Amino acid sequence: MKTPFSPKVILITGCSSGFGLLMAARLASKGHKVYATMRDLNKKEFLLNELKKRGATAEILKLDVTDKKNVTEVFSKIGNDYGYLDVLINNAGYGIGGFFEDLTDEEIRQQLDTNFFGVQNVTRQAIPLMRPRKAGKIINLSSIAGLYASPCFSAYNSSKWALEAFSESLRYELKPFGIDVCVIEPGSYRTKIFDENARQAKNFNNPQSPYYAMSQKLKEKFRKHVNDLHKNPEEIAILAEKLINTKNPPLRNIPDLEAKTLYFLRRLLPTNIFNAIVYIIFSKELQS
Ligand SMILES: NC(=O)c1ccc[n+]([C@@H]2O[C@H](COP(=O)([O-])OP(=O)(O)OC[C@H]3O[C@@H](n4cnc5c(N)ncnc54)[C@H](OP(=O)(O)O)[C@@H]3O)[C@@H](O)[C@H]2O)c1
Repeated sequence: MKTPFSPKVILITGCSSGFGLLMAARLASKGHKVYATMRDLNKKEFLLNELKKRGATAEILKLDVTDKKNVTEVFSKIGNDYGYLDVLINNAGYGIGGFFEDLTDEEIRQQLDTNFFGVQNVTRQAIPLMRPRKAGKIINLSSIAGLYASPCFSAYNSSKWALEAFSESLRYELKPFGIDVCVIEPGSYRTKIFDENARQAKNFNNPQSPYYAMSQKLKEKFRKHVNDLHKNPEEIAILAEKLINTKNPPLRNIPDLEAKTLYFLRRLLPTNIFNAIVYIIFSKELQS
């Protein structure tokens, strides 16, 4: 017998664009109570338009995941409104490109502050709203970049590897309390992460950098790769909805063929062979 639909209380971070916006619109259109959060409310029109298109509503709140005071305010509001939270989707994030020596310490710390410590700030406040009911789901937007590493993305890779380890460990810790933790690991989808929101290392475009020739070549190649992306980002919203509706969802959830292939090769091949393949591809990119 099919269980009757029960609307969930859901909080999503980073809903001003991309996956966050689509997840908020999709889940709200299915009748869930969605707290769609974003750090800059001046950007809410994009989400409002998408909600309108789908005949849905969501509560839009300001939330910068790196601002602990702001995080506390948002959770005390949810505590007052409902007293519980069913689902947390840690989606907010960005990627900085650049070779290690072209990156400043500050840039690397900021990357970790958002993609890793930001997730922890929000998760720390969410768990007490889940534990008393012995139910809840925490879905973290990692990346296939959290399961392998590539040159020129060490800061982003590190933030997502840290998120992978945190999620896996937390999954064990929260299981006794009836809370599921899972991760979505997409390959590349064309969202603002590669356009308006893309960041580059301070010395990425510095002709004095020993990496200058390589970064300029990779920039050109990467732009072409992004222009050729035709996957639909809604796939991530569909997957998030599926995880919410699944009892005992798996830890790792890889939506697309590109990411599935990389993950499969990473697991199947000895590390030195996998490393050699990545290095050959990298060298070819620099030459062509
Ligand atoms: N697109 C991909 O190919 C891809 C692949 C794998 C994983 N991911 C992951 O998916 C997640 C969403 O990315 P996206 O592709 O949808 O990119 P996006 O369109 O650039 O969206 C990123 C969202 O995160 C928000 N954000 C950044 N820093 C924040 C902060 N400190 N506090 C709150 N919100 C913040 C952005 O807000 P602003 O508008 O204010 O900057 C924006 O709403 C990220 O975690 C990303 O790493 C993306």
